[in-house]
Amino acid sequence: MDNPDTTGTAPWSDADVQARVEALLKTLSLAEKVGQLVQIGAADFVPGPKPDVVIRQGGAGSVLWLNDTKRFNALQKIAVEESPSKIPLLFALDVIHGYRTIFPVPLALAASWDPATIEGAQSVAAQEARAAGLHWTFAPMLDIARDARWGRIVEGAGEDPYLGAAVAAAQVRGFQGAYLGAPGRVVACAKHFAGYGASDGGRDYDPVYLSENQLRNVYFPPFRAAVDAGVGTFMSAYMDLNDVPATGNRWLLRDVLRGEWGFGGFVVSDAFAVGNLVTQGFARDARDAAQRALSAGLDVDMASSTYLDHLTGLIEDGTIPLEVLDDAVRTILAVKVRLGLFEQPYTDEGLLAEVIARPEHRAEARRAAQRSMVLLRNEGQLLPLSKSLKHITVIGSLANSKEATEGSWMVFGHVPAAVTMLEGLRAKLPDATIDYAPGPEINRDIPSWFESAMAGGSRAPQSPEDAESAYQAALATAQRADLIIMVLGEHANMSGEAASRASLDLPGRQEEVLKAVVALGKPVVLVLLNGRPLSINWAADHVPAILEAWEPGTEGGHAVADILFGDANPGGKLPVTFPRKGSHAPLYYARNTTHSPEESPLYNPRYWDGLPTPLYPFGYGLSYTTFALTNLAVSAPQVRVGDSASVTVDVTNTGAVAGDEVVQLYIHQRFGSDSRPMRELKGFERITLQPGETRPVSFALGPAELGYWSSHAGQWVQDATTIDLWVGSDSRATLHTQLVVTA
Ligand code: BGC
Repeated sequence: MDNPDTTGTAPWSDADVQARVEALLKTLSLAEKVGQLVQIGAADFVPGPKPDVVIRQGGAGSVLWLNDTKRFNALQKIAVEESPSKIPLLFALDVIHGYRTIFPVPLALAASWDPATIEGAQSVAAQEARAAGLHWTFAPMLDIARDARWGRIVEGAGEDPYLGAAVAAAQVRGFQGAYLGAPGRVVACAKHFAGYGASDGGRDYDPVYLSENQLRNVYFPPFRAAVDAGVGTFMSAYMDLNDVPATGNRWLLRDVLRGEWGFGGFVVSDAFAVGNLVTQGFARDARDAAQRALSAGLDVDMASSTYLDHLTGLIEDGTIPLEVLDDAVRTILAVKVRLGLFEQPYTDEGLLAEVIARPEHRAEARRAAQRSMVLLRNEGQLLPLSKSLKHITVIGSLANSKEATEGSWMVFGHVPAAVTMLEGLRAKLPDATIDYAPGPEINRDIPSWFESAMAGGSRAPQSPEDAESAYQAALATAQRADLIIMVLGEHANMSGEAASRASLDLPGRQEEVLKAVVALGKPVVLVLLNGRPLSINWAADHVPAILEAWEPGTEGGHAVADILFGDANPGGKLPVTFPRKGSHAPLYYARNTTHSPEESPLYNPRYWDGLPTPLYPFGYGLSYTTFALTNLAVSAPQVRVGDSASVTVDVTNTGAVAGDEVVQLYIHQRFGSDSRPMRELKGFERITLQPGETRPVSFALGPAELGYWSSHAGQWVQDATTIDLWVGSDSRATLHTQLVVTA
């Protein structure tokens, strides 16, 4: 992807920005300063005064839940011409994996293990969003998620801090470009700080208890990477972290984020979260909530009006020093200056149509979808399929659903326009007969609030009689085909916010249909559309070909057809472990070795009613070709603490077609200040090799990779120790060597 401004430099020096901000600050009254910290929700479900009124009074600095260029301009006109301060507004929205051209969901993008693809995707999202008049996206979501039951696993990069950090930096570069305020880009927001993915039982919003060691070694690295990549803003998480709500958590927001990491941007709360400090049993009342949030370092109140109602009084009576407010206002004004909003507050209303029509956006979405898909099984090389197939049946209600194809976190007001699986297959084989039978519908047991509030309400579920006739029709249709493509998984509303579930099984009657179709004895391909790991245990043993297509976005149907018919070779790898059962979650590869290692019979098995081994391990994925890894070597057998070594391996494409391998480096520290995980990813690279081609890949191993936060020492350490190294194609890599680290 051509990113025209990745090498540009900002038109403002830091000193220019600071001088401008100080000059502006001097012109603002107390109420106008408070206004900059207020984010007003423009959607109907938000209670309280309407945006026009609040903005005219100077009571808002930013607006969310609005997606309408004309309306942006109208509200901006009120702000810059009629409000007392004349300070322009920031328009913010959740642009998570595309604005109009929808890319694969973030978990899928992470499965590409390809930072360049991820950066390209978010650059397209930024260009389209900015053309619509948006300045700021509430993305990327950087929460490490090790519990597949948690619905929001779909929004992040999976379970691993090293992969998560690489994906975080790529997303920030994609959204923001070379610098904050780059033309045609948006300001990114690293969310949800911090620990949200570790909620008890995977239940959304539930409290989180994480040790400092887990926070610093596992949950913080993607956030730290975002700061290092220059992210403009942060969002605090909803939940209690170790009994202190993240929104009122001074340690997180002041000590770590600003103090240790030097973050200079601003922090917005999650929706209504400042007001919810009362609901959470933390603040006495709304005034106390405003005081504790701002004092903790929370700059912008998203939609709760708590700052609007109480900050002026809290400053006037001296409860909060004016300097605390001024510091928060400075960070917001600085972003507005960098974006050039004082020079050009409005958006050209004709721009969006031109930007979204760019053919390279669609091409990039198709390529990203291809690169994110993971081939889970391919017995007897059933895939790729022959283009001379004459009669195919496609089964599954997801196969012709634009919503399921574009996936979770639709942009507010967006109408899905995806190429579905069925459409993509028909376009690929225009001369074949491709029958379609949806089979029984699948529904959540408990509907989602988001559907009723945002997407016009949920539909009544199918009656059992209609489901039965859909089931029979699917089997009858399958009987006529030479090959059956089953498209199964979860609907878009089954993962995401408030979409956790206890089971990871295929919902509804999908597995029943699958078993009946497989029993027909014809070749069956399973395409999965889903935003979380699914425990497809039966399919994993009985369906010869399984492609994890995730929620692949606007071009999803074309991308799946490209892979199934061999026009693209799958090379994605799982960014998250697939457990065999929901009750095995949280399950992740980077566990510590225990006194009774899992392979030893003593005190094992871990559960007597089924081994909690992964169905598919972290890093796993097949290709239409094969690879051999040889000549693993370390540049020196031993290094001193603080020094670096390099690890090299030769990778050969040993098959008959070109393909991609993601070479992965894992380490284990044998002894030291703390016990460390049995494996940790510390390097990866996705490479393309022609048949017979060999290429060396190398990784650096130094203090950044070998150091860690020690519970025992209460600080960052790097031990003198022995490090096991494995290089391979997934987290079970067997090619081994070691590195001795001396004091
Ligand atoms: C979500 C955030 C999102 C915000 C604004 C909240 O419900 O937790 O991730 O950015 O809404 O839409």
